[in-house]
Amino acid sequence: MNNKILKFPENFLWGVSTSAYQIEGNNINDWSEWEKSEPRIKKLKLENKNLEDYVCGPACDSYNRYEEDLELIKNLNCKAYRLSIEWARVEPIKGEFNFAQINHYKQILQATKKRNLQVVLTLWHWTNPVWIAQAGGWANKKTIDYFIQYVETIVKELGQYVDFWITLNEPIVHVGFGYLYGKFPPCKKYDLLGAIIVYKNLVKAHKLTYNKIHQILSKSQVSFTSLTNYFEPASQANPLDRLAVAFAKYFYQENFFDQVAQYIDFVALDYYFHNRFSWLPPFKVNLNKKINDMGWEIYPAGIYHVLKSLSKFKKPIYITENGIADIGDNQRTEFIIDHLKYVHQAISEGVDVRGYFYWSLLDNFEWADGWLPKFGLYAVDRKTFKRMARPSAKAYVEICKNNEIIMGLSPNALSSRKF
Ligand code: FCB
Repeated sequence: MNNKILKFPENFLWGVSTSAYQIEGNNINDWSEWEKSEPRIKKLKLENKNLEDYVCGPACDSYNRYEEDLELIKNLNCKAYRLSIEWARVEPIKGEFNFAQINHYKQILQATKKRNLQVVLTLWHWTNPVWIAQAGGWANKKTIDYFIQYVETIVKELGQYVDFWITLNEPIVHVGFGYLYGKFPPCKKYDLLGAIIVYKNLVKAHKLTYNKIHQILSKSQVSFTSLTNYFEPASQANPLDRLAVAFAKYFYQENFFDQVAQYIDFVALDYYFHNRFSWLPPFKVNLNKKINDMGWEIYPAGIYHVLKSLSKFKKPIYITENGIADIGDNQRTEFIIDHLKYVHQAISEGVDVRGYFYWSLLDNFEWADGWLPKFGLYAVDRKTFKRMARPSAKAYVEICKNNEIIMGLSPNALSSRKF
């Protein structure tokens, strides 16, 4: 096969993404409390699962090893880093801000800037302080005010280091997994009313956060991340399957965008997989020819379709997460290149895609699935915290350095280059 080179636009922002709870270690918040809770432990025991695999604990110790992590990012030739602030560290008690912790984040951001990396800062990546959870979490409308106070403090203290703000990470996932499927704290099942209230509060929180950030720093770039996977009908010919897709798209993806469309400066897309929906149970009929370690169907062409449809907002688009759970690193290089091929296609058709952030720098705590999924370009030894580059990290180095992908080169050829 010919080695076709696909160049990305000048100044394309190559990066990696992480979130505080998943890497920092020893955070105390609604998640850490839930992990230790009786019903959770009982459930894991009943399912014959090893508890240790499902507790975040010291995570990757990135709280202490951030300099080392930033060095890895720099060595990848990235130009940007997406990370998040742990609200529970900054405001462990209602109204009492911990300035030592804010200072800790200041040091991280200064160290990031020292390496000439642009900062994409997420203000809420699913975890809440315990006092917020005890007061009803996002079902309590006062949480919006508390959040805005926290945001105001962060923007005033850290705003000078931030290039892009993410208000909320994938709000719809918190609603679905927290209030309908019982997978994330507060682990409610089929609480439709709760889900609607939380959803509305998150929409409002995003809008007010957007205004608050702009009020303090008028030139800021602000958005939320949307998990916009690609949905298709199981059968194009079946109008009911098409209806099922329209329904899923509307509730999982489009409605939040519609509500906040005037309150985003860019589109932040997280893309992982593909689902084929049917109107009949079990509703999902994926072909699963290629899946990741979590069973998610790999479908690179989907990112093209999603980018095309998001271009209607006429805003720059950043892919703030795309990645694969692949413990053997057998598919990761190909996964990245195949997705980038379709990103390139969208760009060549005029879609204004400005950056790509691989999820994730490190193997980290994958929420309800614990430590089993391995998304990292770097593996992390759970005892020593040693970071070890996977072959795909070497491939990513080349992509970021040369601002291009080479089609037709075997993943091995790419990742065996020296760096
Ligand atoms: C996204 C989350 C991120 C990580 C990846 C695999 O939906 O934002 O924290 O868990 O999935």
